[in-house]
Amino acid sequence: MSERIEDIAIAMVAEGQGILAADESTGTIQKRFDSIKVENTEENRRDYREMLFRDEEAMNNYISGVILFEETLFQKAADGTPFVDLIRKAGAVPGIKVDKGAMPLPGAGIETVTEGLDGLRERLAKYHAAGARFAKWRAVIAISDTTPSHNAIHANAHALARYAALCQEAGIVPIVEPEVLMDGPHSTHDIARCEAVTEWALKEQFQELYYAGVKLDGMILKPNMVVPGQKSGTSASVEEVAERTVRVLKNCVPSAVPGIAFLSGGQSDEDATAHLSAMNAMYDLPWKLTFSYGRALQAACLSAWGGKKENVPSGQMAFTHRARMNSLASLGKWSIEQEKSA
Ligand code: 13P
Repeated sequence: MSERIEDIAIAMVAEGQGILAADESTGTIQKRFDSIKVENTEENRRDYREMLFRDEEAMNNYISGVILFEETLFQKAADGTPFVDLIRKAGAVPGIKVDKGAMPLPGAGIETVTEGLDGLRERLAKYHAAGARFAKWRAVIAISDTTPSHNAIHANAHALARYAALCQEAGIVPIVEPEVLMDGPHSTHDIARCEAVTEWALKEQFQELYYAGVKLDGMILKPNMVVPGQKSGTSASVEEVAERTVRVLKNCVPSAVPGIAFLSGGQSDEDATAHLSAMNAMYDLPWKLTFSYGRALQAACLSAWGGKKENVPSGQMAFTHRARMNSLASLGKWSIEQEKSA
């Protein structure tokens, strides 16, 4: 495959494909394993990820890239095959989460800034040598009655831009992920508020990317969709989510960006798929719109597997199904009938 970042970025949003976010940190995978009562050992983490990466139907047809946690980038399958080789063999691009997590922003209450810039240039060289050709950095923007502050939006956008410039210098495509959270106990967090905050975060983000000299044709944006807060007591139709999300993106994302790959953010599997499909079906857009889901691709697979070897085929069936539904959604061709017919 070409080593130009522009070509890698295009491959990451190939027609009918999207990204598997399997980069749960050891702490986050603990929560996922707790939910199925599986012990969080290195071997279990390997077995779980091996089930995903060896699902040939899903990986060959629907998955263009896989985001890995550092441990997984250097890990091998039970038979000694490096995971990076399994992913490449399926025609997908291996990627790596490089941020060190969201830390409290001084004096800012619940707000955080994502850290991990110190030593990043050296880490990127090591990840590139190990086969990673794209990276992910996630910033977290929390909505409450008094947040986000400009300080939090700006600090996160600035860090994301510095990270993105370092990635491109290393021949790695940055996924830029400023996530406006959909959870939080705030009654004022309706869909209009989510739209306004998402627009603010993205405006600030592209300004910072410009200042940092980031090439827009060598990056992928990973935003949240515009949805009502989970505890706002309000809901929105699929069409309204699609309309508001596309409006914000059109207002903020230059057409030089080749692709936008959404996070699922705690939406149900079916909502995440339906929303993506509606956007692609309803609008003619300058960028590819696809998925980069963690939970919405893995939740069904995780529970079908339950940590048992004999359940690997059922786990893979569940993963293939979600990957196929989201592939259809990336083409605007998903329907509830296809969902149920499986
Ligand atoms: P979710 O799809 O579960 O939100 O995860 C995607 C991701 O990579 C968050 O950083």
